[in-house]
Amino acid sequence: MAFTFPKGFIWGTATAAHQVEGNNVNSDFWLLEHVPGTLFAEPSGDACDHFHRYPQDVALLAQLGFNSYRFSLEWARIEPEEGRFSLAALDHYRRMLASCHENGVTPCVTFHHFTSPRWFTADGGWEEKRNADRFLRYCERATNHLGDLIRIGCTINEANLAAMLAATRTLPRDGIKAQAPSVAEAARRCGGTVERFGPFLLGHPFKIRDTMLDAHVRARDVIKGGRGDFPAGVTLAMMDFQAVAGGEAMRDQARAESYLPFLEAARRDDFVGVQTYSRQRFDANGPLGPEEGVPTLIMGYEFLPEALEATIRYAGEHARVPIYVTENGIGTTDDGQRITYVRRALKGVVQCLRDGIDVRGYYYWSLMDNFEWLFGYGPQFGLIAVDRGTQRRQPKPSADYLGAIARANAFDI
Ligand code: BGC
Repeated sequence: MAFTFPKGFIWGTATAAHQVEGNNVNSDFWLLEHVPGTLFAEPSGDACDHFHRYPQDVALLAQLGFNSYRFSLEWARIEPEEGRFSLAALDHYRRMLASCHENGVTPCVTFHHFTSPRWFTADGGWEEKRNADRFLRYCERATNHLGDLIRIGCTINEANLAAMLAATRTLPRDGIKAQAPSVAEAARRCGGTVERFGPFLLGHPFKIRDTMLDAHVRARDVIKGGRGDFPAGVTLAMMDFQAVAGGEAMRDQARAESYLPFLEAARRDDFVGVQTYSRQRFDANGPLGPEEGVPTLIMGYEFLPEALEATIRYAGEHARVPIYVTENGIGTTDDGQRITYVRRALKGVVQCLRDGIDVRGYYYWSLMDNFEWLFGYGPQFGLIAVDRGTQRRQPKPSADYLGAIARANAFDI
């Protein structure tokens, strides 16, 4: 039976600047990728050269049937030195936004997606509460230049991620930077000390969470107060937290540490962005590894597309605002498995809509295979393959599959 999505439903794909643009040389991650003993499997290099190739990429996603594109602005390009804003970089993003409009694609813009300028990170970064002001100044400048062309705004991508990874004990609760000599070296190279160096994910997770929460709340007002009038919200990393064998208290503590402060703040936003890939189980002693018999993926977590339905329901219940699925996807070399994943995840979206939950859109992560952070180019999340030698784009069957659903705004459930 075909299910028709509400009129105006957003069908998009997502990327992040550092993962696709290439040569993001003024960012903290670029530095961290190039120190001896780096934690990264390989450097980002040219990435997908999306910085130059965005016109073809935007045209291609429109041609495939998508009506929206979520991408991020790179703060390290826009403000490469503190207080020195690059008009050329801002104009670049203006052209990107214009190219979305020319192709009938609704642009959804993320103001921060993991990477920051080196100068910011060298001087405390996200660990330092007062640094939220520096982020706000950048948001103000970017909104004044670009706001009239933006249609959906995400302040900070997965502002809760560091806390979520600490709550699931994927990251140590005091951060990993002190234990990683390469991070100390990166700090030294940008004129700082490891204590002051505050890169996202590597520093103290709960300090990062608190600065990001404050920055989000204030950034929402800044970006809505500028040129343009568009819905704004934060996006959250959300695994389906499940309790087994007396794990309720552990699960609830993880929720309280990583979800609830953001979902409560989101009540004053226009929407909340849900980003889900898998689940996390807890027993009475804490987080558990993958369940026996459940297939795991290259990222280490379980293949479990149904997790999305659970996180949409949880976010809806606590945030009580419209929801965009701002990311959902799978890193796999088996494109048939990707189609299965998307089909099962969308089934969950349909169940939520049938139950009256206000889901406004679905963005697949990612438009194309790209730089998967510490993992380098190994995991392939893309609907489009990218030849690393030639940069040639080749849409996969999953791109046609999801593109057809997007075009029809209907799904055979
Ligand atoms: C991030 C993306 C990342 C994706 C797949 C999300 O947590 O926002 O940048 O590539 O997951 O791991």
